[in-house]
Amino acid sequence: MVWTTEVVTGVRVPTLVDVLEARRRIAPYLLPTALHSYPSLDRLLGAEVWVKHENHQPIGAFKVRGGINLVSRLDETERARGVIAASTGNHGQSIAYASRLFGVRAIVCVPEGANPVKVESMRSLGAEVVVAGRDFDAARERCERLAASEGYRYIHSGNEPLLIAGVATGTLEIVEARPDLDTVIVPVGGGSGAAGACIVAKALGAPLEVIGVQAAAAPAAYRSWAARKLVSDRMETFAEGLATRSAFELPQRILWDRLDDFVLVEEREIREATYRMIELTRNLVEPAGAAALAGATRLRSRLAGKRVALVASGGNISPAQLQEVLAAGPRDTGDAADPGDAAGPGGPGSGGGPGAQGAWAGPGAQGAD
Ligand SMILES: Cc1ncc(COP(=O)(O)O)c(C=O)c1O
Repeated sequence: MVWTTEVVTGVRVPTLVDVLEARRRIAPYLLPTALHSYPSLDRLLGAEVWVKHENHQPIGAFKVRGGINLVSRLDETERARGVIAASTGNHGQSIAYASRLFGVRAIVCVPEGANPVKVESMRSLGAEVVVAGRDFDAARERCERLAASEGYRYIHSGNEPLLIAGVATGTLEIVEARPDLDTVIVPVGGGSGAAGACIVAKALGAPLEVIGVQAAAAPAAYRSWAARKLVSDRMETFAEGLATRSAFELPQRILWDRLDDFVLVEEREIREATYRMIELTRNLVEPAGAAALAGATRLRSRLAGKRVALVASGGNISPAQLQEVLAAGPRDTGDAADPGDAAGPGGPGSGGGPGAQGAWAGPGAQGAD
């Protein structure tokens, strides 16, 4: 089923028209990013592989598309009050970057131990950074309290149609550059990027499959998709872009309806994929930015001979993460790939749809459903 206009708890689900409008909004500020092919990745995966270089964005991540789309449309009252966001880094950088462009005060709540590269960037962009709580969701709770008490415009990282429509412009660029693609693989944290990809792919009616990838160590969005209800779970991944304990309603509703498949990848696979992306594309990617390659490696046999786009969603790796990745080295991901195309009992990534997967709660699941 392809929706035209739907409402999720009072919020309108973005459509292709919103994505086209977002593109018009962001065009003065952002260039389309490159979509490059790498024969070495083709060999690794046995497919025709295209990498969407969102790591080349001015903040080093795709989120900036959504930030500019949203902040450019704040009304006078919201601009005067200032904006606030909670972030593990890239959403905060996006809001900081856009707020600077449009002369708006920005406050970002980050968890303790947040990636210092991202925190420094937010500060350099003029945002006020509040370090709050041990993880993203703790920072989010603090952020929501501050928004309520101080009257700031709260910019949620997932439940914002303008963010989703904004990040969806990346998928629009992909399908315009390569209308013949079979599959696009998107990393998932809160799900805005994957939801945007689904909106574009399904509205165009192209036979373009959208597959999400999340860390098995932080599977809330995956489990929510599989169960068709919002659940929380553990959050233990080192890929902070994928690190959420809970799932968000707006992106989830879009994913429930339109995402073709979803795979979980282990920390080791994300580390290896990060190494491989750096080695084979000579690009810096952060762990979340390599998750699409980790997912594709897991789905190798299913992708054989297909034309596949991997979204390199971000390049903001910290020096400490980079050292860890390089020290761990590559395993032979090509040969090690494809353990039955499954991330856990119940068959995530099997292509069998969520019905077969709903019971799987993931290792160490806390299941705060
Ligand atoms: C580099 C990177 N990739 C992927 C994601 C996941 O995006 P989403 O929360 O839209 O699912 C994020 C989120 O911050 C990110 O920073």
